[in-house]
Amino acid sequence: MSVGILALGTYAPSRVMTNHDFEKFLDTSDEWITTRTGIKERRIADEHEFTSDLAFRAVEDLIRRYGEDALEGVDLVIVATNTPDALFPATAALVQNRFGLKAGAYDLLAGCPGWGYALAQAHAMIHSGLSRKVLAIGAEALTKIINWQDRSTAVLFGDGAGAAVVGPVPKGYGFKSFVLGADGSGAKELALGCLNPRLPGDLPMPKTIYMNGREVFKFAVRVMHEASLEAIQKAGLTPEQIKFFVPHQANARIIESARERLGLPVEQVWVNVDRYGNTSTASMPIALQEALDAGQIHDGDHILFVTFGAGLTWAASVLTWWQPD
Ligand code: ACO
Repeated sequence: MSVGILALGTYAPSRVMTNHDFEKFLDTSDEWITTRTGIKERRIADEHEFTSDLAFRAVEDLIRRYGEDALEGVDLVIVATNTPDALFPATAALVQNRFGLKAGAYDLLAGCPGWGYALAQAHAMIHSGLSRKVLAIGAEALTKIINWQDRSTAVLFGDGAGAAVVGPVPKGYGFKSFVLGADGSGAKELALGCLNPRLPGDLPMPKTIYMNGREVFKFAVRVMHEASLEAIQKAGLTPEQIKFFVPHQANARIIESARERLGLPVEQVWVNVDRYGNTSTASMPIALQEALDAGQIHDGDHILFVTFGAGLTWAASVLTWWQPD
């Protein structure tokens, strides 16, 4: 059986925060942020807007685009997030209830690659016959866990959500490969505490996002390339056969390095980090949606996804796009 993406919807809060807004209260500049990251602005959830609200809006967008019956047959909801509304109940259960689905529901926490992991889970569940269709969501209210006085992290993140219905597609289409990886020896490089005040190795855990930018950058450049190549090879393809590249949107320099090393032309990669910053698990579905809306992806195109983040973790996959008539 072939399994692919049947429907997609996204949401980003309407409030825009520009680099110039940061200049008013941090020792930073639009020039520094733009040169080092490619980010110009990001979206900020309002005081009363949390990850579940963003996820609801993304599913509502999916229904608007694909019709009321787009959720028919969905029997599992996965919300990949690093900013769940609560430790429990799972944010996925709130989505299940909001849309009246007869479905299992759980959250998935794997750093920014969460949505990449969720797609792999959805594929496996459907392939094994345990699920018919899976609603795989990436949603983040990251600006709620930022230290607004830390210029090295505050400027990087934004809020948003993306929701995909994953299900059976005609033969020849759908996911061709998955690569999932982790290296917990890098746990200390990107962290946010919860219950345990210390990590193994007796490292104190921060109460807001901590990141060793330089180390994460080096890791990202390496793994984006290696995981991409592995996913392409597993799919039985060569880089030249990739028609469109949808990378995690964390830093324009990291994306550019991956694109260059894969030998892909600039017009075959979607970059929107300038407008959203890093929305973590939501970044790939938002980028995919924009590329589709811009008419950049066509029936039968091989699409490459690749993402990295806290854990440290990574995920890559190749999807042959199915565009129903
Ligand atoms: N404005 C001005 N100066 C700044 C800022 C800022 N916003 N932030 C840091 N600086 C300063 C630093 O203090 C440092 O000053 P120093 O040399 O006096 O110490 C200088 O700029 C250079 O800092 P670096 O960290 O070396 O800058 P770099 O070029 O590495 O860029 C960055 C930093 C943008 C964070 C980069 O390392 C990066 O993008 N890393 C990867 C981040 C990432 O992709 N994270 C993904 C997270 S995924 C997830 O799961 C959440």
